[in-house]
Amino acid sequence: MRVIILEDAEAVAQRALSFFDRMLRQKPDAVLGLATGSTPLRLYEKLSEGCQAGDLRFSDVTTFNLDEYIGLPAGHSQSYRQFMQKHLFQHIDIDPGRTHLPDVANLSFDRGESSLRCEDWQARGAAYDQMIHAAGGIDLQLLGLGRDGHIGFNEPGSSLASRTRIKALTRQTRADNSHFFASIEQVPRLSITMGIGSILQARQCLLMATGAHKSPAVTAMIEGPVTARVPASALQMHPAAVVILDQEAASGLQHRDDYQDAETLQQALESLDH
Ligand code: F6R
Repeated sequence: MRVIILEDAEAVAQRALSFFDRMLRQKPDAVLGLATGSTPLRLYEKLSEGCQAGDLRFSDVTTFNLDEYIGLPAGHSQSYRQFMQKHLFQHIDIDPGRTHLPDVANLSFDRGESSLRCEDWQARGAAYDQMIHAAGGIDLQLLGLGRDGHIGFNEPGSSLASRTRIKALTRQTRADNSHFFASIEQVPRLSITMGIGSILQARQCLLMATGAHKSPAVTAMIEGPVTARVPASALQMHPAAVVILDQEAASGLQHRDDYQDAETLQQALESLDH
């Protein structure tokens, strides 16, 4: 795992931008995995600015988002489809037909009942994994980190081999996300999320985490054991995982000097290519 520690959230966004910039220059038809939440907002602004300035092109790019809420009315302002539209897609030259989020149409429990059978619910996740596979797999997967160590909506206890499927959100995650809603009661209880096994199939994973409130999860993810209690710790098993942190999120790490030394070497090696 490559750990990059920078001064603040702005520097984290700028560094994450450089990974996208490099990917799009190397592979203009890259398949990108995207996340929602607060953390990537500044990155999305920078990607939008880069596109508007003519430095970045998305016309041949395909995207797959990590997750989507179940149970919000179509077009709801807090659906992740609307989030992506508002914060990224409408500002860049991407083909809307190449932007994908898990299909949650008609998935809802009405008084505890669904018009769809259980197998129809489960088929949605498998269909999403199949679409990613058919697109050639994800080249660069962006990730945020939940305070409880989740990635996507893979909450603690999720199988490290899990595939895209329906998951219940924990109370903590619903509370954390409630600032986007009028009240916690309005935060959906269910989602479809890419599984941890699905995420690990991306050719490169790029996790951003900023702020002191993420520090315990960051420390557990990087320096703790690989465990389903901390889903993000599965990234220790990924051959090309990069974690970009600000000082606050990195404040609990014990081996900061080692990460810094490794990063200095990494940058020296990368400069040989220029
Ligand atoms: C969002 C997602 C989540 C968030 C995580 C952090 O698509 O998959 O795992 O990345 O909850 O959220 P923020 O960035 O709001 O702290």
